[in-house]
Amino acid sequence: MPKSVLLCPPTFFDVTEPKNPYMRLPIDHVRAQHQWENLRHALEQSGLKVETIDPVKGLEDMVFAANQVFVGHHDKIGKFIVPSRMRFPSRHKEVAFFVEWFRQRGYKIIELDLAGEYLEGHGDLLWHPDHSKIWAAYGFRSTPGGVEKFARAMQDLGFPVVTLQLVDEFCYHLDTCLCPLNNEAALIYPGAYSPESLPKLRAGWKRVHELTREEAHQFLGNGIVTNGRYITPHLTDNLAAILDKEGLQPVVVDTSEFEKSGGSAFCMKAFLE
Ligand code: ARG
Repeated sequence: MPKSVLLCPPTFFDVTEPKNPYMRLPIDHVRAQHQWENLRHALEQSGLKVETIDPVKGLEDMVFAANQVFVGHHDKIGKFIVPSRMRFPSRHKEVAFFVEWFRQRGYKIIELDLAGEYLEGHGDLLWHPDHSKIWAAYGFRSTPGGVEKFARAMQDLGFPVVTLQLVDEFCYHLDTCLCPLNNEAALIYPGAYSPESLPKLRAGWKRVHELTREEAHQFLGNGIVTNGRYITPHLTDNLAAILDKEGLQPVVVDTSEFEKSGGSAFCMKAFLE
């Protein structure tokens, strides 16, 4: 279980161009700041150390700290990152700021040749909780070629990668439709996957709990599992029953301003160690 997490304050957060079907104006900036502080507080309350990266003017999506790099740890090479190549040009510049942040803290940088491809960090790349493998998806943001290059590099390090295809534009990132709860159980929205991908996903877990379309589109699968808690933007009877079965306590944190940009709790952080 990670002990610390990286966040980026929403100082310059905004919606400036449509990058996903959720994006809408206006943003209430005071409310956004307040919601971000509440998320930070919920993470700290769960026992995590919160680190921050300085926000940069003009980089309105930098608050979504899950996307700019993939973070990992390897027995031999130690802690490492794989920098992303974001699909939208307006997000390209974010990556260098994150890479620098990690470089200064001693992370090894595994640079892939992503020319012509896209790869969006933990938006589309999720560790199995025991780090025995990585779940990776393409379809709307990361490209098949980007995921393939990532998979080859990770396989070289001994981490198998299972590749999935996403088909629902409201679930444009894997972190909106797959949330690992523990080594045996995951929360999924089945409608987000191609017919070939769904069996691959199901085969990887002893227990697969399903969210409805409405729940997935309200980011109930974009929660953060931390120290026996599940930080979620909303709670339904279905989700409450699932969390109860898996021994997780729900913690509701309103992220409505960030949902107007197509993201919620999971998107707003990167797990460190
Ligand atoms: N507005 C951002 C974008 O479209 C939201 C990113 C959400 N991040 C995530 N990991 N799902 O790029």
